[in-house]
Amino acid sequence: MNNQKFGYQDDNQKITLDFATGKEIILNIITPEIIEVFEDHGCATNSYAIEGNKKQPTDYTVTDRGDHIEVQTTALISKVYPDRKIDFYDAQNHPLVLDYRGERQMLPTDMDDEHRNTVMSEGHAVHAKATPDNVNFEILKSLAKDEVFYGLGGKTGFLNKRGYEYDNWNTDVPVLHNDSQTHLYKSIPVVYGMKNGYPYGLFFDDTYKSHFDLGKESDNYYFYSAVGGNVDYYVLGGQTLQAVVANYTYLTGRTPLPQKWMLGYQQSRWGYSISDTRVEDIADKFAEYDLPLDVIHLDIDYMRGYRDFTWDTTKFTDPKAFVQKMRERGIRLMPILDAGVKVDDKYDIYKEGMAKGYFVTNPDGSVYIGSVWPGDSVFPDFGNPDVRAWWAKHIKFFADMGACGIWNDMDEPANFRAKGQLPDDLVFHNGQEKTTHAKMHNVFGHLQSQAAYEGMKAATQQRPYIITRAAYAGTQKYSTVWTGDNAAVWSHLQLAIPQLNGLGMSGFAFAGTDIGGFQEDTTPELLTRWVEASVLVPLMRNHSILGSRYQEPWSFDQQTLDIYRKYLNLRYRLIPYLYDQFHQAETSGLPVMRPLVLNYPQDRETWNLNDQYLVGDNILVAPIVNQGATKRMVYLPAGEWVDFWNNTEYAGQRYVMVDAPLDTLPLFVRKDTIIPWGNKVMHVSDEPEKMMTFKVYGNQGTYCHYQDNGQDFKYQQGEFNEYVINVANDQIEVRLQKHDFKPVYQHIVVETATKHAEFTFDSESDQYRQVETN
Ligand code: GLC
Repeated sequence: MNNQKFGYQDDNQKITLDFATGKEIILNIITPEIIEVFEDHGCATNSYAIEGNKKQPTDYTVTDRGDHIEVQTTALISKVYPDRKIDFYDAQNHPLVLDYRGERQMLPTDMDDEHRNTVMSEGHAVHAKATPDNVNFEILKSLAKDEVFYGLGGKTGFLNKRGYEYDNWNTDVPVLHNDSQTHLYKSIPVVYGMKNGYPYGLFFDDTYKSHFDLGKESDNYYFYSAVGGNVDYYVLGGQTLQAVVANYTYLTGRTPLPQKWMLGYQQSRWGYSISDTRVEDIADKFAEYDLPLDVIHLDIDYMRGYRDFTWDTTKFTDPKAFVQKMRERGIRLMPILDAGVKVDDKYDIYKEGMAKGYFVTNPDGSVYIGSVWPGDSVFPDFGNPDVRAWWAKHIKFFADMGACGIWNDMDEPANFRAKGQLPDDLVFHNGQEKTTHAKMHNVFGHLQSQAAYEGMKAATQQRPYIITRAAYAGTQKYSTVWTGDNAAVWSHLQLAIPQLNGLGMSGFAFAGTDIGGFQEDTTPELLTRWVEASVLVPLMRNHSILGSRYQEPWSFDQQTLDIYRKYLNLRYRLIPYLYDQFHQAETSGLPVMRPLVLNYPQDRETWNLNDQYLVGDNILVAPIVNQGATKRMVYLPAGEWVDFWNNTEYAGQRYVMVDAPLDTLPLFVRKDTIIPWGNKVMHVSDEPEKMMTFKVYGNQGTYCHYQDNGQDFKYQQGEFNEYVINVANDQIEVRLQKHDFKPVYQHIVVETATKHAEFTFDSESDQYRQVETN
């Protein structure tokens, strides 16, 4: 080795590299497919995304190759050079993540201060460029001509993020979301790449404000920078893009199986909760129009003066009895809970929090006062575990009322003062240590969700239902998310698909958008196409802003209502399929709703498909997302596909043109697939279903169907059933493969193109008997 100081120490999967200049770099081998790169910048090292020790005993070698040190596992090779450059390859030596040898070449700008002011005087935004001197560190990686990017949570824009820049700084964005906004409500700093077709992932575990430039500035490099924190990133390998995603969710956690009714349809509007009679009126309308429904959301008006953990009893005379009454009708209520706590000496939550020192302070020790819905507000210091425990304890208030979950909002946190932010230097806790808002900002919503999850779990012993607007990597363990305040414009229906697919690839298997659009006035056609597009979106909620045109299913004409009902019924029929997918997602770490590229990464046609999605492996949804369109091109990947509506079969790996009049969502099932087809219901029942139908698309297939009590954690102790349906050579077999959840379907029906086979449960043999075939 030329330079004496370049060397390493190898200590049980932790390789510390010493250089002649600069700090040491540590390579932590987490698993054969995950290696962490760490450079200490004097900041705290605890992770909010990764919980517990993820290191697995792994075989590896460290070899001095003369001009570099090579660290090799069965899946990844990293080469470290004396000039601090590190390159990662897969086991076959295909380059994955290579440090860039060169300097950044900033995009030229012809703007001086004078012109900048002139441009701004008309109201145009002038964006500050990320420059090397306003960040703590920058990491440049070389970019191949043939490289695409995915992930990053629910950012704006299209599926493939190459050519764009993004920031990670949770922000309430109340204006129209568009491609030029670099950040919205969530910060999920994971990016997946395919370099010359070879997949990898990079997860930058840093909660400070950070920036990705994915080939906007240059064709030769992409870069990541952050204003604080340590250099701490994970290179994720894996043979396929799916394996890489599974590695990311192994690290940051998997979306837990929801309660089954959470997959039901949900109705919301800012304004419903002005009174119990208004809420009841909505429930009545659903019944009157024969529309299935599981949840009505209660926006901020149910509270007393927007005080958290209160209920205005002038609007809801007996909230507990009301929740119970609705529950008896099969409808659950989901109250919103905001991050800001009202400043009011007569309000117990404020008083308690003040007495205990639980609110965020200014550097001089005084409590910081911002403004949210209740006016002057203070912000719980969720970085302090005692504050989370306190918040979790109060969550019992809702659990005791019978509320079905907690809808966390304004948890970026949003502020109506100080340009929508809290000042960077406010004092927070990071565990027992004091730190700043700059560090804790991006995990505020994450920690508030964790507190809500733990509070609900402790109070109910059921799988908690938490929704949050703000999130960080790993929040999927605690909460589902929605994409925030979208608008009733066609571009937001288009945006919903890449956003939700991006969230899915970033660990969030349970996510949705406000159907119909939150802001602005929807149209019957837009609402119709939106509910169609959402039929298999995991979180299915229609939500709108106070003052906008009503967008309940009955708000327009008969046709809109009828089509809406058709898709709600379809949703309920497919809930057993969705639930099966959630069960799989919890073990595989793959999303339920996913872009085609995740299943077909070798097929370049899938790399930029923005307006289609898969649900699991076998259902393909290709919604209409353009006004007036009644036909569309659909890309069918390899294999054969069956049109859900008319059984037309298509060979894949080609585009087909399909008809899609207003009442038709282009929907395809992979040939030789079996799909469970639930009963027609108005709500997901707490009682186990007595029968289930399975539909066979094509001539054969095998399907494993999962069943548990749909509510609590007993399934984790093995209390579930597995049914295997097998159709081959004209033979239909139904087998109870696992029977540890007591109730079973008494009847099972299997429908093929030519047969209708019925089976009944025989308790003696603990199996099914075919009773009739025609
Ligand atoms: C925020 C939320 C929105 C909610 C409103 C009032 O804008 O994103 O969903 O309706 O606040 O609480």
